[in-house]
Amino acid sequence: MNFFNKLKQQIIIVLIKAVQRFGKHRVTIMGNSFDISANVFNPKYYYTSAYMAQNINVAPDDVVLDMGTGSGVQAVTAARTALKVVAIDINPEAVRHAEINAEANGLKDRITVMEGDLFSPLRKEPVFSVILFTPPYLEGLPRSDFEHSLFDPGKALIKRFFSEAQSYLRQDGYIQMLYSSLADHEKALTIIRGLGWHCELMSSQETFSESFSIYKIKRNKIEP
Ligand SMILES: C[S@@+](CC[C@H](N)C(=O)[O-])C[C@H]1O[C@@H](n2cnc3c(N)ncnc32)[C@H](O)[C@@H]1O
Repeated sequence: MNFFNKLKQQIIIVLIKAVQRFGKHRVTIMGNSFDISANVFNPKYYYTSAYMAQNINVAPDDVVLDMGTGSGVQAVTAARTALKVVAIDINPEAVRHAEINAEANGLKDRITVMEGDLFSPLRKEPVFSVILFTPPYLEGLPRSDFEHSLFDPGKALIKRFFSEAQSYLRQDGYIQMLYSSLADHEKALTIIRGLGWHCELMSSQETFSESFSIYKIKRNKIEP
């Protein structure tokens, strides 16, 4: 990673920690309301959450997995249309808030929230038609529950996620992933492609600090 991206990452970490502490803890995204705490990724202030939510395009028969749900913002958005949503987070406080937010938005019957590391709470069955994923992407070691929202050292989480995801995704299903230019997205895409996936750019957006891209990612077709 070049010097400027390293510096930007450090500045962004300071800003995020201030926002988590002093930003509003009851926020609205696309008409849905979310209650969070200082230890749950705030969906209002980082642009990524709303941008990802605006690009969800699920159908009424879709079964969706929201990996790393945080406040539950993507789960709630998807559940407005989809048949069923499972939301997972490693941070127990995020799990508690995602459950509260599913209920507060009247979607408790469609959303199941689970605590765990990636796919560990699930049975190994290819049941999901869509998996939504905004992974942490900054360099650093997570030293608290909240820091799991920020850091993926050496892109280890990306490697694990894309090594395991095919066991849970239907054959015609896809992963919708948001990633940042600040975090060497070309390196992330090389890892993902190397694990047998095809990445297609769905949408891209420049902000003052970085550009965010949303990818539609499918398993490579195996020729007969
Ligand atoms: C960048 S935040 C995105 C939160 C939410 N999806 C959104 O759009 O606002 C990443 C989330 O992934 C969760 N996470 C990080 N590592 C995880 C893991 N190994 N298993 C499950 N969730 C994880 C974090 O706790 C955090 O809530």
